[in-house]
Amino acid sequence: MKLFQRKERNGAGFSGAVPKHIAIIMDGNGRWAKKRGLPRSAGHSAGSNTFRNIATFAESIGVEYLTVYAFSTENWKRPKDEVDAIMGLLVKYLHEAIDEIKKGKVRLKFFGDVTVLSDELRSLIDEAETLSKRNAGMQANICLNYGGRDELVRACRALAREASENGLDPDSIDEQMVSDHLFSAGIPDPELVIRPGGEHRSSNFLMWQSSYSEFYFTDVLWPDFTKNDLLKAIEYFNSRDRRFGGVKNQ
Ligand code: FPP
Repeated sequence: MKLFQRKERNGAGFSGAVPKHIAIIMDGNGRWAKKRGLPRSAGHSAGSNTFRNIATFAESIGVEYLTVYAFSTENWKRPKDEVDAIMGLLVKYLHEAIDEIKKGKVRLKFFGDVTVLSDELRSLIDEAETLSKRNAGMQANICLNYGGRDELVRACRALAREASENGLDPDSIDEQMVSDHLFSAGIPDPELVIRPGGEHRSSNFLMWQSSYSEFYFTDVLWPDFTKNDLLKAIEYFNSRDRRFGGVKNQ
């Protein structure tokens, strides 16, 4: 974790460690739109702008990985026009992101089963991920058609295949091997998970990876979420005593 010094924050000094990996459930877009008499898609559009702003700010303060929940395996139950709107926003974002990646600025990765997405989206994802490999800097992981349970089922299937086809000893399977078969393989677990929008649940997000994460909940709706809200979450994280199952002052 990096030490982040910020001289002014509502007049108060702030200094603390910035988590290496922050994960965010971008919730509240629909309610944000409804409050304004707008279609839900307008909330998602505002939410995607918030993502751009927060990602830029997170990188500027030294976050190394930012993982966001853009579309879950359950979100297909939503009306088709809403699903289409979200996919359209992702296409728009990817076109912009690819230009940034070409300038060496962004690293993007997608968690989830992207094989069922449109040809256009799949080819943009492929291009963005391939070009990202040559860049440094913060990596944004976008969870798309992602579910924590689905991710674990896929890991189980892969390990079972290795056991039946390549002679993997089932008793040799350990936590590291499971981690290595997740979409997040090779990426450290998030220290902090943030959920705006007022709900207090994890909704099938990074089930395995968030086992020891601190959770920060806020009623702020995602499109209204600001840099200051991110700093508040980090400040909360710094106030926590993380024991990882042990006891204090061991
Ligand atoms: C949850 O809010 C939000 C989603 C299911 C979609 C999130 C998608 C985006 C922000 C747009 C694309 C993302 C990127 C990275 C460009 P909700 O609709 O469930 O809100 P509600 O609880 O108020 O109804």
